[in-house]
Amino acid sequence: MCGIVGYIGAREAQSVLLQGLEKLEYRGYDSAGIAVYDGSVIRVKKRLGRLSNLEEQLNGHGLPGSVGIGHTRWATHGRPSDENAHPHEDCSGHFVVVHNGIIENYRMLREQLRREGHRFRSETDSEVVAHLIESLYDGDLLGTVLKAANRLRGAYALVVMSVREPDRLVAVRKHSPLVVGLGEGENFIASDIPALLSYTRRVYVLDEGEVADVTASRVACYRLDGTGVDKQVLEVTWDMAAAEKAGYEHFMLKEIYEQPKAIADTLTGRLAEDNRAVLPELGWDEDTARQIDRIHIIACGTAYHAGMVGRQILERLTRIPVEVEVASEYRYREPVYTENTLVIAVSQSGETADTLAALREAKSRGRRVLAITNVVGSSVAREADDVVITQAGPEIAVASTKAYTTQLVAFYLFACYLARLRGSADPEAIRGILEAVRGLPEAVSKVLDTAPAMKQFARRFAWKESAFFIGRGLDYVAALEGALKLKEISYIHAEAYAAGELKHGTLALIAEGVPVIALATQDHLYEKTVSNIKEVKARDAYVLALTWAGDGEMATVADEVLYLPRTNPWVAPVVVAVPLQLLAYYAAVERGNDVDKPRNLAKSVTVE
Ligand code: M6R
Repeated sequence: MCGIVGYIGAREAQSVLLQGLEKLEYRGYDSAGIAVYDGSVIRVKKRLGRLSNLEEQLNGHGLPGSVGIGHTRWATHGRPSDENAHPHEDCSGHFVVVHNGIIENYRMLREQLRREGHRFRSETDSEVVAHLIESLYDGDLLGTVLKAANRLRGAYALVVMSVREPDRLVAVRKHSPLVVGLGEGENFIASDIPALLSYTRRVYVLDEGEVADVTASRVACYRLDGTGVDKQVLEVTWDMAAAEKAGYEHFMLKEIYEQPKAIADTLTGRLAEDNRAVLPELGWDEDTARQIDRIHIIACGTAYHAGMVGRQILERLTRIPVEVEVASEYRYREPVYTENTLVIAVSQSGETADTLAALREAKSRGRRVLAITNVVGSSVAREADDVVITQAGPEIAVASTKAYTTQLVAFYLFACYLARLRGSADPEAIRGILEAVRGLPEAVSKVLDTAPAMKQFARRFAWKESAFFIGRGLDYVAALEGALKLKEISYIHAEAYAAGELKHGTLALIAEGVPVIALATQDHLYEKTVSNIKEVKARDAYVLALTWAGDGEMATVADEVLYLPRTNPWVAPVVVAVPLQLLAYYAAVERGNDVDKPRNLAKSVTVE
């Protein structure tokens, strides 16, 4: 996730900007840059990679001046590179911007501006903002930024500086956070409070659609229509560590709670108003879609579970046979391809060694590879033919949460997109699924309310030796992911079973008090699952069942029932994932484990 810092005052801006960006490093980034006004021009330095690369470049060639802006970039549009790093300049170098978020209508704006003669140096959506301001500038930077902001669609935060009015910075917040830090004869801007804490604890938190006009001696705030706003000063009382985690005890919990936003961001620009999946990054035509006669999905761990959900939705909507396999097996199996097999590689990090090797195996056999990844410019993204980026933002906890649910969203979008192009499914069925997908940010927000119930259950359950997760169809896949999450961070032995398989062996392990988490969200399989719950109850298991709100039967069968906000069963794996993540989280906390860095595991597995 990108980071923004701005400074105006009497100090050397460069060191304030670099220190501020350092405090935002924990959010993850792939490049960094700063711009400082030196009394006559704005000088910009930016570099791919760590902040230390930029610092090296500045060593002995620093940027003098006391007004500046800085940025750490997490690539969304355009690969990570020096050119795509921020700040971005207009043609004249008079207007310089840093930007977080996504400008949805940047293609159209870029085309218009190009026709007017503007020359673009990067592949980013952000650069259009600098050129748009250049084209609209009428001697009033604040007024021009307001006009420009009203022409931008999407979720973004911006800070603009200009040689024409070097005594001010103008900041805009639209669905992407920004705060203004208040000093004596100096002021600060940042996308997150930690960047300011070394200088001030007095801040204005910009609200949705607010603009700040910041000089060294005053801060004035406005709405996008230009009317003034009176802001209350917030006194920050948290320490640095808490601020990084935005008040959450662990990154994992923060990331669980970020899921509504991560899903909404992944949907941005990909779901038309008439509920059509549009994936502009693919731009496939009907022939390309119709040629595909087989799909192989390759991934590891949680991403493999996303692939298992993907298989069910793809087969249902496209009628193409789909195989899913863990990449470490696939790479050595000499898989059989048809002429038009599409291979889908799923990887949050885009650097997992086994997934990358399996992708290379498919490429070496001439297959088209589509990547679903969270990291623009990662190896998987670079080596694939097509890429769908999930917009989860950096995931810091080892246990994958928001990356998983956004991978599921990417699969729903892709399956509906492919089915529309192939004409392989009833358009009403596709629309129904996409309507539910559109409702996921809200459904996930609601299901987060189960946290207290899961915490309570986890406290009682945390010292059990083992647990079983059961379900049928998509619930079976959700059970696999629930069990993996629990093992990974709580170290409780957990197994997931297709509920119908229990009696073929596992039932022997069910005894008095053994916890069984039973998932029952698939309406057409509900009665079968209830019968399986009765099988384990008959052996005195302790059953927590998860099913839809409004159910009247489950309470008579299970020991405890957690009710979920009802949605289309096809998207249930997203909704069910949340309480299972919370269960694993609270069990791990209860056991005193290092939740964000579980023993023996790494975030990115770049070795075989
Ligand atoms: O970065 P990737 O998605 O390729 O990682 C794959 C697995 O290593 C990963 O999902 C792992 O299973 C998670 N830690 C599970 O929470």
